Amino acid sequence: MRDASTQFLARKYRIVSWFYDILDYPWERQYRLWRPLLLSNVEGTVLEAGVGTGRNLRHYPSAAHVTGVDLSSEMLVIAKKRARQARCSVTLMQQDALHLRDLPSARFDWYVATFLYCVLPDALQPRALEEMIRVLKPGGGFKLLEIVYSKDATLRRRQEFLAPLVEQLYGARFDRHTLEYLREKDGIEIVNTRFLKADAYLLIEGRKKPS
Ligand SMILES: C[S@@+](CC[C@H](N)C(=O)[O-])C[C@H]1O[C@@H](n2cnc3c(N)ncnc32)[C@H](O)[C@@H]1O
Repeated sequence: MRDASTQFLARKYRIVSWFYDILDYPWERQYRLWRPLLLSNVEGTVLEAGVGTGRNLRHYPSAAHVTGVDLSSEMLVIAKKRARQARCSVTLMQQDALHLRDLPSARFDWYVATFLYCVLPDALQPRALEEMIRVLKPGGGFKLLEIVYSKDATLRRRQEFLAPLVEQLYGARFDRHTLEYLREKDGIEIVNTRFLKADAYLLIEGRKKPS
């Protein structure tokens, strides 16, 4: 059974799906430069969690077999159209990233999530990360791209100004603790963390330890 905050997010994205791509356009102009760089080496079986409207799909190499999951069937309808432009094979499923109930353990070479963990409430993040670890093969890689508060005073003020709107529209926050939760997990190693822009867009790369 879904918890209350997950149900809330599902309801939010049912509505937001109608205008998500328009709303996100100012940011997407930046993200679309990063997506191909992020995904160029992601091959084999891939789970993309919180696939949204499928913005990443056309950037996977042809050697990828992507399973894209999202809480929102309405977001997946749009992703399905984008999947037609993909070079790789794509399967889309409505699944909760916290309970990937139809996906077997140790199935995927990669786990990718872009701007999912800034949406997931802190209390739910450890559970989503456990599912990530469960479905990854030993040695499988993960890439998480998230937005976080900057330490730069000017940028931080701008983020704080936008924060209520961003949370209202997307359920996203800049103050999630994903990296801390990852550091607490056994069975994985964080290989690299770096910012893609200023100190606000954090890319976390790692892998499940080989057994
Ligand atoms: C901010 S959007 C990001 C979409 C996409 N990854 C991108 O980069 O454009 C967050 C997505 O996560 C999905 N989502 C939120 N909670 C989820 C959950 N528990 N399981 C799966 N998807 C979830 C939302 O429905 C939404 O499509």
